[in-house]
Amino acid sequence: MKKRKAISRRKHKNKIRKPQSLKALKKFYRRMRHARVSRQKPSASLRPKDIILVLDFGSQYTQLIARRIRENKVFSKIVPYNITAEEVLEMNPKGLIFSGGPMSVYDKGAPFPHKELFKLNKPILGVCYGMQVITHMLGGSVEKSKTREFGRCELFVDSNKDLFLNLPTNLTCWMSHGDSIQKMPQGFIKIAHTLNAPIAAFANRTKKIFGVQFHPEVAHTQRGTQVIQNFLSHICGCLPRWTMDKFIQASLKQIKETIGPKRVVLGLSGGVDSAVTAMLIQKSIGSRLHCIFVDNGLLRKNEVASVQKTFKGNFRMNLHTIDAQNRFLQRLKNVTDPEQKRKIIGDEFVKVFQEAARKIKGVEFLGQGTLYPDVIESMSPISGPSAVIKSHHNVGGLPKSMKLKLVEPLRELFKDEVRLIGKQLGLPDPILKRQPFPGPGLAIRIIGDVTRERLEILREADEIVLEEIKKAGLYQDIWQSFAILLPIKTVGVMGDQRTYENAVAIRCVASVDGMTADWVKLPHDILGKIANRIINEVVGVNRVVYDVSSKPPSTIEWE
Ligand code: XMP
Repeated sequence: MKKRKAISRRKHKNKIRKPQSLKALKKFYRRMRHARVSRQKPSASLRPKDIILVLDFGSQYTQLIARRIRENKVFSKIVPYNITAEEVLEMNPKGLIFSGGPMSVYDKGAPFPHKELFKLNKPILGVCYGMQVITHMLGGSVEKSKTREFGRCELFVDSNKDLFLNLPTNLTCWMSHGDSIQKMPQGFIKIAHTLNAPIAAFANRTKKIFGVQFHPEVAHTQRGTQVIQNFLSHICGCLPRWTMDKFIQASLKQIKETIGPKRVVLGLSGGVDSAVTAMLIQKSIGSRLHCIFVDNGLLRKNEVASVQKTFKGNFRMNLHTIDAQNRFLQRLKNVTDPEQKRKIIGDEFVKVFQEAARKIKGVEFLGQGTLYPDVIESMSPISGPSAVIKSHHNVGGLPKSMKLKLVEPLRELFKDEVRLIGKQLGLPDPILKRQPFPGPGLAIRIIGDVTRERLEILREADEIVLEEIKKAGLYQDIWQSFAILLPIKTVGVMGDQRTYENAVAIRCVASVDGMTADWVKLPHDILGKIANRIINEVVGVNRVVYDVSSKPPSTIEWE
């Protein structure tokens, strides 16, 4: 798992950004229009009765729409905007949502859905660009607004039926558009307006086609979840049937059928994704699951013991802990370049994992904790203006020569759903709510040479940071809190003696997804306590500094 994460990081660094200029954007859409992308149906035994398809026109909020639907206990699937009517019918969704997107319908190369989708008699909700697409394709008109609306604005509801049922007549909503609807297509009526957009929401109730200019999926839109829920239940007729309980039952059955009498290997990292994957597979096939945990020597204090205690001790898993510390440290000797470190760690992980897996007889499957966002980002033709298209990093890590078939029970799920499953399966909070830890581990938090001695210093300092943050009750509120060992020595004085020792930096950041982050304004007494303890208790450190940079322009990790 570590290796795969490491590879993910590399891919992340080399990410293919969505083009920024209009010309490049058009070319991008043209290319993507022909892409063979994720039109896969949800796996048969997991296929829920009610599905909503979210057509992705490139909005940065597409994933958010899909998550909000799931939060309403209805299954959602993101599909490319150019999905055909036949493909839609095959999936038999209860309704379609057209996402927003960065282009204008008048831009050359702007993305449009197939016209036949409007003839399927499926309810449709267009969001922002999605609404403009409906307008443009059904004979209305969209024009550049005199006043563009970005950010919060007041919405006045004109019709409290269906989409706005049980909602007040005034709502604060989140807008992000330059174009707006000038003339509705025939058969449509206005159901909400703002001061700048006379048609901020419309409906064709006979055909069950709706459009909203604002973004109901973002948290800033007051009661936005209710708007989505209204579409799901009152317009599409969906029932709240998508529960993790049902998912677990169906998934256990499916894993059993897929694997039959064979064996599975899985790289366990101690993180929540691989842990939940392992638990589902173990529940299905018992001791025929072999978990491989690679101790690369770059883990935090007590991590090896705690993973062993949880998975081998408590859950009685078939856990193979491979002590590969010397191998990793040997290869990292004198390596200071961060990307080089990642490359070496990833490469060595594959070797260690392969060697260990080969020793287990009858293995035909590789279990992986791939999540839905990984799948979307690797296959969706459009991932939003600020998003990235990553290659499938979980698969990317292990060489094809292993010739193993994949078992990825979480590939339809979002992270919060995975946590719910973990909780139901009895995964303890320290794993369930663990702060993210990078695959290359402490190696990218030691600036410069990674040696056994420097690892020891960082491990001790890091443990103190975590202990104090937990004691202060802040661990769950902070995205990541950790120590970094700097490649400089500073002068100090201890017991009348001059010292010339290491400096340690502390990094605490708040974030929702790791893509952007803000430094945490830790109370001074906690900061003071951490610094005091590190300087007193960690031999070799005489100075502590606090990192007050945000991401961007800095990154969360120092390397
Ligand atoms: P940055 O440093 O890019 O980190 O702001 C964003 C998030 O990714 C984690 N991270 C990594 N995770 N392998 C991983 O599996 C890596 O090489 C890696 N580098 C950074 C980081 O901890 C943060 O959560």
